[in-house]
Amino acid sequence: MTETPEGDVDPRNRLNELTGREWVYALRSVISTAYPTSGPESYAHDLRRKHPSPKPPQLLAELVRFFTRRDGRVLDPFAGVGGTLIACSLEGRQAVGVDLEPQYGTIYQAVCERLGLAPQPYLIGDARRLTSIPEVQAKPFDLILTDPPYAAMQARAKTGERKKRGQGAATPFTHSPDDLGNLAYNAFLDALHDIVAEALTLLKPRGHLVLFTKDLQPTAEHHNMLHADIVAKLRQLPALEYRGYRIWHDQSMNLYPFGYPFAFVANQHHQFILIFRYLPA
Ligand SMILES: C[S@@+](CC[C@H](N)C(=O)[O-])C[C@H]1O[C@@H](n2cnc3c(N)ncnc32)[C@H](O)[C@@H]1O
Repeated sequence: MTETPEGDVDPRNRLNELTGREWVYALRSVISTAYPTSGPESYAHDLRRKHPSPKPPQLLAELVRFFTRRDGRVLDPFAGVGGTLIACSLEGRQAVGVDLEPQYGTIYQAVCERLGLAPQPYLIGDARRLTSIPEVQAKPFDLILTDPPYAAMQARAKTGERKKRGQGAATPFTHSPDDLGNLAYNAFLDALHDIVAEALTLLKPRGHLVLFTKDLQPTAEHHNMLHADIVAKLRQLPALEYRGYRIWHDQSMNLYPFGYPFAFVANQHHQFILIFRYLPA
């Protein structure tokens, strides 16, 4: 800590507008939450839940407050129904979202209308061709905050307990071959690497990439620790420094008796928030 009282913003702080106390709070490695799924605090969850994996805007807002200042610019190349964009509107930041699937953009517009928010630019397009989208190229970003598919997790039918309960159907984001969620594990990692490499050309030096992911269940063939494989893959980009992760524990998820009474199978109620900084030579 500096000589500045904990309640003040340190004048040397160029990253955000947090006081010392707020900065320290934002360093906790586990964020354990149960965000409301109804009422005004749910940010129109009833509309957003038409997407298989919407993120709570409050969670994204906490990250936006740490990694940007007011009016900062944020890019989400896998925008879904707009968790990042809503967070940016709530926090007075400018955002641009990209997603393959037009119906997610339509839901985002409906959410904005319900919440009385001016929609942020939302482009229908392919994250693998980011720099071909003029709105994305207009001005550099301070932060890329995004939640790509977790390899093919959503595109696979569920087995075991979920299947028994009639919740076994696959819920792919789209049926498009361009959807990263429809790629095999290693092809997904390669595509994500190439997207991040291109996205870095749109990021200010010393800006951040903050990326959500979740591990898949291990198999006999592979540990499936997707978060570790993403870190290893993205560390191949020379200008990208891995800074560590935070864990989001979603208390609202159901606990299933997976494996009972034969073998251990974890209920994965957490996601990894991987944090990288862009430090070009
Ligand atoms: C995990 S979801 C993002 C959810 C989002 N954080 C929200 O709050 O709604 C991943 C999104 O990536 C999109 N997607 C997959 N492949 C893509 C690609 N090649 N280009 C752009 N979007 C893609 C999917 O349509 C899906 O909406």
